[in-house]
Amino acid sequence: MAKSILVTGGAGYIGSHTALQLLLGGYNVVVVDNLDNSSEIALQRVKELAGEFASNLAFHKVDLRDRTAVENVFSSTKFDAVIHFAGLKAVGESVQKPLLYYNNNIIGTINLLEVMAAHGCKTLVFSSSATVYGWPKEVPCTEEFPLSAANPYGRTKLFIEEICRDIQHGDAEWKIILLRYFNPVGAHSSGHIGEDPRGIPNNLMPFVQQVAVGRRPHLTVYGNDYKTKDGTGVRDYIHVVDLADGHIAALKKLFAADVGCEVYNLGTGKGTTVLEMVAAFEKASEKKIPLVMAGRRPGDAEVVYASTEKAERELNWKANYGIEEMCRDQWNWASKNPYGYGSPDNKD
Ligand code: NAD
Ligand code: UD1
Repeated sequence: MAKSILVTGGAGYIGSHTALQLLLGGYNVVVVDNLDNSSEIALQRVKELAGEFASNLAFHKVDLRDRTAVENVFSSTKFDAVIHFAGLKAVGESVQKPLLYYNNNIIGTINLLEVMAAHGCKTLVFSSSATVYGWPKEVPCTEEFPLSAANPYGRTKLFIEEICRDIQHGDAEWKIILLRYFNPVGAHSSGHIGEDPRGIPNNLMPFVQQVAVGRRPHLTVYGNDYKTKDGTGVRDYIHVVDLADGHIAALKKLFAADVGCEVYNLGTGKGTTVLEMVAAFEKASEKKIPLVMAGRRPGDAEVVYASTEKAERELNWKANYGIEEMCRDQWNWASKNPYGYGSPDNKD
């Protein structure tokens, strides 16, 4: 019988791509999301893309901090596993509003974990981040590196990782995989779903995309005096569909083995500078991205990229796409949806 997966935050960027891959893989998917940073249109598009599997997707507008609402979802379906994406993720905002981040991300997660335990569903995949490596002393980052957090957002990831390790330690029935994402970019190759950030984008590629469609005049490059090949910061960009597939690999591992609480990097293992990424996007879009050089962004690391060995070995998963495909698909989404899921009137 098809397995049923609860996807929290499934209307968001990574969640919507993962929901689609799950449906195509034959899973039943229930999404809960409060739509705080997303649109239900994303899920309508997921249904369209899922074709014959569309009827296997259900959506409930639920805030994870609303215990009764979460209880109701678990009462109506018996889940085989939960993939937990729901959370706030803007680093700068987390510095301004730490309590909002602790309240939303940590209380939301504790609620979810308590309801899961009460309903006997103790199989979890959690969205962690390479941010838990802080400013790594060396690269590639392996899963054994020391952990740190430079801001409240990063601290919520670190705390939730620790909470997961603790609950599994206290109750061996829990099976948990913590996935540390590097830099997810790109979109589904159809161009129908993609990233649609509210307000001014914090991350590189959403900003580049908005410059390309004429919504912003230029990209500000944060620092060109790093000790890298062209002076700009190096990151490990990963295609969001590869990332989504990584979650399915994690589920398969959880269903097949006695996992305990394990952690895996999801990246490509390749480092790319800001200028290399901009050049790849210019090539894919045939648009010029005007650049303004500026100082370093506070808190930014110089070079971050993943060791992918553990995920390759134990999850049997490896990223397939390179930056050309990431930029091609990002531009396909942006050119078809210059205002994301919204209209120019309600976008700033
Ligand atoms: P996103 O904002 O597009 O998706 C998160 C979703 O969670 C949104 O749809 C939002 O409405 C929902 N949500 C937030 N708080 C909620 C709550 N209390 N109850 C119910 N729904 C809630 O972000 P994303 O890029 O898809 O990221 C998904 C997860 O991956 C997040 O936990 C994020 O921290 C993590 N992550 C993202 C990145 C990245 O670069 N995008 C990198 C590392 C880790
Ligand atoms: C940022 C977050 C990190 C989070 C990750 C994924 C900070 C300090 N870190 O990381 O916690 O996990 O996003 O959501 O915010 N850049 C520019 N101009 C821009 C935007 C970015 O030059 O307008 C540069 C950055 O300096 C960096 C690279 O592009 O070198 C990538 O930046 P970004 O996409 O924000 O990701 P991270 O810095 O890895």
